[in-house]
Amino acid sequence: MKPVSLIQFLIEERRAGHINAELSLLIEVVARACKRISVATNKGALGGVLGMAAGEGDAASINVQGEAQKKLDVISNEILLEANAWGGHLAACASEEMEDPQPIPDMYPKGNHLLLFDPLDGSSNIDVNISVGTIFSVLRCPDGVTEPKAEHFLQAGTEQLAAGYVVYGPATVMVLTFGHGTHEFTLDREVGSFVLSRREIRIPEATGEFAINMSNQRHWEAPMQRYVGELLAGRDGPRGRDFNMRWVASMVADVHRIITRGGVFFYPLDAKIRAQGGKLRLMYEANPMALIVEQAGGAATTGRERILDVPPTGLHQRVPVFLGSREEVERATHYHREVD
Ligand code: AHG
Repeated sequence: MKPVSLIQFLIEERRAGHINAELSLLIEVVARACKRISVATNKGALGGVLGMAAGEGDAASINVQGEAQKKLDVISNEILLEANAWGGHLAACASEEMEDPQPIPDMYPKGNHLLLFDPLDGSSNIDVNISVGTIFSVLRCPDGVTEPKAEHFLQAGTEQLAAGYVVYGPATVMVLTFGHGTHEFTLDREVGSFVLSRREIRIPEATGEFAINMSNQRHWEAPMQRYVGELLAGRDGPRGRDFNMRWVASMVADVHRIITRGGVFFYPLDAKIRAQGGKLRLMYEANPMALIVEQAGGAATTGRERILDVPPTGLHQRVPVFLGSREEVERATHYHREVD
């Protein structure tokens, strides 16, 4: 069968009435920016891009989340901002790395879309040559708003027009949804274009594989202790079978494994992070991943409610995340709801 490029796929989606020309251009621009990030990550030490970004004096640069920034965090953020500034498809951008939304410079035309991104998720893995990724989400700019502020981005995940991620692993792969199924594109490095590699991905409903940072176990709430305790008890426990565990510490890589062979991912609430509401960011990580996973037949909750229904209260709001194979997400969520 003839390979289908991302551009061809976007034209098909326009003809099907799933997207308009502006959203098609937006995805092309994001894909192009991600190719540049892929090149930068692939160079590793040879590109001089490993290590911490420099801040004031000798200190490392700290982002809005209070986290030290890696050089590649900063480079990836700049690549995405620059690529998206001039095309006329955006009203504004918001990045996990920046406190406030970035307006489109006055010299360029403005569009009707809002773009949110985590430019380089899992960046603690950069220096050890383990997969990292970019996550993005697209919203409609509310009618009549010419200078979008943070409040205009605070739309529930159900309002997303598109969501996607790019994983920079052994292959660079983009996973994309417009709310009509989830599809995968692999970067053909020789040709320089993303090529459709899986259409209408389906996540198996049942799984024997889970992903969680077990070092936080002692801090978890009782329902999480119970759920994981039952998995660890294996065939002698109440589940009557053995489960395997994986944890990359790059959400993009963990989600990509789940999209590919099933599994379930948890970043639950725990005593250490209770005050901040969770570890992962609703607008930059949880919402786009939830749409991608739901569109592939999986489920995504906070342990209490569907992620896509959470009313956002802040651009950098954090939430607990349970996502992946439907049966396990539903069971773990049920354990939490039972005790509330
Ligand atoms: P960061 O981008 O700051 O490295 O955070 C990564 C996120 C997510 O990608 C991953 O699943 C999780 O944080 C890992 O958290 P732990 O380090 O607590 O395992």
